[in-house]
Amino acid sequence: MKNHYFASCPRGLEDILQKELLVINASDFEKVDGGILFTGNHEVLYKANISSRVATRIMYLVKKGVYENEEDIFKAALDINWSSLFEVNKTIKVSTTAIKCPLKSVDFMTLRIKDAICDFFRKKFGKRPSVEVREPDIKVHLFLERNNFSLYLDASGNPLYQRGFRAASVEAPIKENLAAGIIELSGWKPGQAFLDPMCGSGTFLIEAALIATNQAPGLRRDFGFMAWKNFDKALFKNIKKSYQNAIIQKDFLRIYGSDKDLRAIRVSKKNLVLAGFEDCIQLACKQFKEIKPPLDEGVLVTNPPYGERIGDDEELDNAYPDWARTLKQSFAGWRTYFLTNDFRMPKLMRLAPSKKTPLFNGALDCRLFEIKMVAGSNRK
Ligand SMILES: C[S@@+](CC[C@H](N)C(=O)[O-])C[C@H]1O[C@@H](n2cnc3c(N)ncnc32)[C@H](O)[C@@H]1O
Repeated sequence: MKNHYFASCPRGLEDILQKELLVINASDFEKVDGGILFTGNHEVLYKANISSRVATRIMYLVKKGVYENEEDIFKAALDINWSSLFEVNKTIKVSTTAIKCPLKSVDFMTLRIKDAICDFFRKKFGKRPSVEVREPDIKVHLFLERNNFSLYLDASGNPLYQRGFRAASVEAPIKENLAAGIIELSGWKPGQAFLDPMCGSGTFLIEAALIATNQAPGLRRDFGFMAWKNFDKALFKNIKKSYQNAIIQKDFLRIYGSDKDLRAIRVSKKNLVLAGFEDCIQLACKQFKEIKPPLDEGVLVTNPPYGERIGDDEELDNAYPDWARTLKQSFAGWRTYFLTNDFRMPKLMRLAPSKKTPLFNGALDCRLFEIKMVAGSNRK
């Protein structure tokens, strides 16, 4: 059976997402900013949730249509056979997002969808599902455009960047799916040296290790679709097993992380242990300007601190030339990738980027600067 789905991802990673979906036999792609509409059966849905490294969430399209006012959408929602989707004893939460929507209140529309679902169940069974804001079993999402509405069931539940094994965090950790997308954009291949010299909680390191061991990122978590009435437990179990069998066991992975902050290194260590990579990745507490390349060639990927507080810019302005010196002196033969919202960075490092890829880190408009270190070149 062909169902319609929408997979969201950080803006800038849509092409990578489409490639991931192609591999699992999804079809009928329609790319939009921040996601892809596609079709597939349950196998495709389960595989997308377990295997996508860059998707944020995947949603099942229950109904779409045109509307002029609130009542049109309420009636369309009341018309859906909700009991074919989930049992009345499941808890629900409705959310709404809108782009260029003429309706006065998006919150009111959220309430009306909740009313429609509850009215439907009450009429049929004499009872209604309870609303649960924090950990609902079923997430219903209404997406409103100028004339069109789409009603979705969230198949992922918790966002897919929650891989299920991050214990602790530092300030401003990068989301796992954005980190995985950046690694893909860097062109790094398992076996090559990988270094994050400002590793914070170790997100890039763990995502690189998951790729190197061919480990699907969703193997250690649950998904929203598991609470649906049509959940095919046997199919899910089989799919999970095939991903588990595909994991390549490795010892050391040539993945290296460092940070100037000992607390960050401790947090990274904790996360590596939980992810099962403590023996595969080497950690060190070091200033960027003190790092040495672990191998003659490799890929450096990092997201430096953002100058968000007063005084930060000045501190960064002083740090950039130090980092550039280290790169020029020791990193010939390396490709380096910096994700930052400080567009002045390459200029202040006096290094010319060979590529600038626009990416959004949450709401922050960022660039991924590619700087290839070749002996004696790159000077601005
Ligand atoms: C934005 S955070 C990186 C977050 C990380 N990608 C994660 O997912 O947790 C920046 C990190 O750079 C580190 N840092 C800042 N200046 C540094 C320097 N000069 N040398 C090494 N690390 C530095 C900070 O301690 C912080 O952990």
